[in-house]
Amino acid sequence: MKPIYDLIIRGGTVVLPWGLERADIGVALGRIITLAPGADAEAGEVFDATGLHVLPGLIDAHTHLRDNPEVETIPSGTRAAVLGGLAAVFDMPNGNPSITTAERLAVKKDYAATRSWCDLGLYVGASRDNIPDLAALELEDSVCAVKVFAGSSTGDLLIESDELLEQVMRSGRRRVAYHSEDEYRLRERKDLFHEGMPYANHMEWRDVEAAFLGTRRLMALARKTGRPAHILHVSTAEELDYLADYRDIATVEVLLNHLTQWAPDAYDRLGPYAVMNPPIRDKRHMEAAWAAVRDGMVDVVGSDHAPHAKANKEKPWPATAAGLTGVQTIVPLMLDHVSAGRLSLMRLADLMCAGPARVYGILGKGRIARGYDADFTIVDMKKTRTIEQDWIASPCGWSPFVGTKVQGWPVATIIRGRTVMREDEVLGEPQGQFVSFTG
Ligand code: DOR
Ligand code: ZN
Repeated sequence: MKPIYDLIIRGGTVVLPWGLERADIGVALGRIITLAPGADAEAGEVFDATGLHVLPGLIDAHTHLRDNPEVETIPSGTRAAVLGGLAAVFDMPNGNPSITTAERLAVKKDYAATRSWCDLGLYVGASRDNIPDLAALELEDSVCAVKVFAGSSTGDLLIESDELLEQVMRSGRRRVAYHSEDEYRLRERKDLFHEGMPYANHMEWRDVEAAFLGTRRLMALARKTGRPAHILHVSTAEELDYLADYRDIATVEVLLNHLTQWAPDAYDRLGPYAVMNPPIRDKRHMEAAWAAVRDGMVDVVGSDHAPHAKANKEKPWPATAAGLTGVQTIVPLMLDHVSAGRLSLMRLADLMCAGPARVYGILGKGRIARGYDADFTIVDMKKTRTIEQDWIASPCGWSPFVGTKVQGWPVATIIRGRTVMREDEVLGEPQGQFVSFTG
């Protein structure tokens, strides 16, 4: 009897963990069954990927999907994700309310269970009050990590002292994800500035030393306690250099924004729509981030998708809401970086699939291999296109990348064998599932 698959992807150049190969992929029951289905195999659906590249379903491990219909929600943010070529996103806990208890996590999961377009991992937040509960919280299904804001940003989550940070590190064992900016230095420096100053002052207030000092303190504590750390959005050349001596305990995320935008250009062009934490800095740091992509220091690239209402973005500095949208644009922009020769498609898959899998312990996703989830991001590297506002799905209504022309575009998103996006069209109903982790 001829084998019958639910889906065969034929004729594409496939980004396998061991290299690029021309291969067909046979999928059944949501999983990859074979990389050689044979010419006469039958399938419910055949995807002709001739001339296209087939990547493992790309993952954005850093998003803030909010819970405000005018700004963003899990349904709207995950719809944006699949339109942009993502198969899974991990959502941060600094919502309203922040996700710091088993009850709040259960409510969020209950809401998300039937409303997500892509697969979903969830962070839980560390707070002053929940440290004794973190060991249990980090083991809940669908939790990718505990997130610690060691410097304050959007929302009320904050753990700034060494004493409490050490308590967090001693309460559990999985890798902890940190927002690393030294809170005391941020407070001290705030008085040096006044309202209405140009937006570029954001990077003077939250300066290189604020980030570097935060990371030095976290590394000292991680070394002392032996607790693995993931430093989110590393934004300075100094930290990237320093972290090279902590690779036994530390993994590194760099953001698309810090690889793509620099000061003063971004502040000149975008004003408040360049304000984020940690800030966009001068070109020296952007170049260091690229060097770190090339030498392997970077484990993960994420978007830090952080939508805010326009009215809050446009407040005079420093009241400007910090954060930039990006979940829908990270894949096109990374593909454009590939086209420009800054990284390979293999390295992109490493940064957005294998990297997140290694850092967070994802089960059954993150590579094209037999038995893994049939998640694919299918891209056309020949396609040039300008990012337009009417393509952007987030209700907040803005993106810092509108008007940017890119080469390389995601033409389909396939999640567990289902084509969820094809040629700008979102198909079917939201059937995202929660991602599983080693725990
Ligand atoms: O710019 C940022 N925005 N940085 C963060 O750490 C939080 C995020 C948000 O949630 O708005
Ligand atoms: Zn963030």
